[in-house]
Amino acid sequence: MKEPTSGVLFSVPYEIAVVRPLRQTTLKEREQALKAAYYNTELLPQEMIYVDLKTDSGVSSISTTQLSKLIGASALESGMEMAPEGSRAFVSLSENFHRIFGFPYVVPVAQGRAAERIWAKMHVKESTVVPGNMLFPSTRFHIESNGGKVVDVICDDAHNLSSGQLFKGNIDLTKLDAVFKEHGEKVSCVYVELCVNSCGGHPVSLENLKAVKTITGAHKVPLFLDACRILENSYLIKQREPGYQDRSIQEIVHETCSCADGLTMSALKDLLVPAGGFIATRDEGSYQKAVVQNFLGGSQPPSAIMETMSAALQEIFVNDSYLRSRVEQVNYLWRRLKDGVSLVAPSGGHGVFINVKGFLPHVPAENFPGEALAAFIYHISGIRVTKGPPLAASQTARGVELLRLAVPARRYLQGHMDDVAEAVQYAYSRREEIKGLKKLDKPGRSRFEPTLFALL
Ligand code: F0G
Repeated sequence: MKEPTSGVLFSVPYEIAVVRPLRQTTLKEREQALKAAYYNTELLPQEMIYVDLKTDSGVSSISTTQLSKLIGASALESGMEMAPEGSRAFVSLSENFHRIFGFPYVVPVAQGRAAERIWAKMHVKESTVVPGNMLFPSTRFHIESNGGKVVDVICDDAHNLSSGQLFKGNIDLTKLDAVFKEHGEKVSCVYVELCVNSCGGHPVSLENLKAVKTITGAHKVPLFLDACRILENSYLIKQREPGYQDRSIQEIVHETCSCADGLTMSALKDLLVPAGGFIATRDEGSYQKAVVQNFLGGSQPPSAIMETMSAALQEIFVNDSYLRSRVEQVNYLWRRLKDGVSLVAPSGGHGVFINVKGFLPHVPAENFPGEALAAFIYHISGIRVTKGPPLAASQTARGVELLRLAVPARRYLQGHMDDVAEAVQYAYSRREEIKGLKKLDKPGRSRFEPTLFALL
């Protein structure tokens, strides 16, 4: 007998083992919470939130195996201690990492930004240039704090929120060539973010990555990946890039890594863990240096986290069903909203992004339309959305403003997504009521403190 419709059955490849109750709040309570948070949804207390789409980082649900590793490692051994190279946790993680990503050397770290700090210090020198595709703020920060200059060479489609281009994360090869022509030996490395957050979670194609590799190879400059959303990127390649439909996610991940000389990666997204990350390289010298820097910087992960990452690597790739359910859930929310609400198109890998200008054309930028919309959505529904991490300068310079509905992996059910869709549609139907916010300047506040707002 044949399977009825392979690919349609088994759409949720896990069941719920432990749940966290959510508190139902009233409109009045949410109004008070908003006032207390000065209309900044970033500052809302967790217990007042129903569905939290602030981030997909470090907030996914762990599996029973991961949980047993976390608890078991902590209880049986000194699982929260830093495990040295050669420890059981380290060896098992390195073996799994090597099998899946193909890099011979890996340095587990505490978080993605720790990986970037170490890697940028080693590879970016004063007055050098790093071409990239709308790199994440922490990546940019670490490049710039070592004296490097980030030059955005992403394709023009990344700025066009409504175009149907399927790989808006791609590097524009002409722009990349021009940077090499202008800066020659001053180019220290090329950094490519996968599933680019600043343009709506859009993927980079393998065709593009290979072409970039050819260029960097010709100039003898290393190509590095920010691989924290490599899984979503690989799923979208499988869906969209000709020739990859019959390839497994693992094969696509492997092929993606084979284009790169090294990578930095936060494990908080794709490896479904609350902490952890990696530096991976093909160069033994860089590996040794990174190990020492990781030690000196105090950024080694505890052994319990290493075991939890190892468990994720074993579980995620058993077949493609987990990743299908993860990205298709994002796609489901996107499809529910796309007719009516102004969204970044097509659907991305880790979240749905609202084009704020399209949603609230009547609210000028100086009245904080993104924050005002986030506050309105929270008020009517208890659902938290935020603008997410700051967008790349090349987006903000064009006046692009996005509200990110980041979907944490494995955490929410279709019912939650339906509620989100209804809340956003309801906000859209009443958008004329959203007037905007004004910034409160309290004397003595430093510029590092969060922005406080009041209703206009
Ligand atoms: N690179 C990308 C593309 C990221 O999205 C993040 C974090 C990092 C690097 C840094 O990793 O948090 O482990 O230090 N993104 C979170 C977010 C904060 O909400 O998108 P980290």
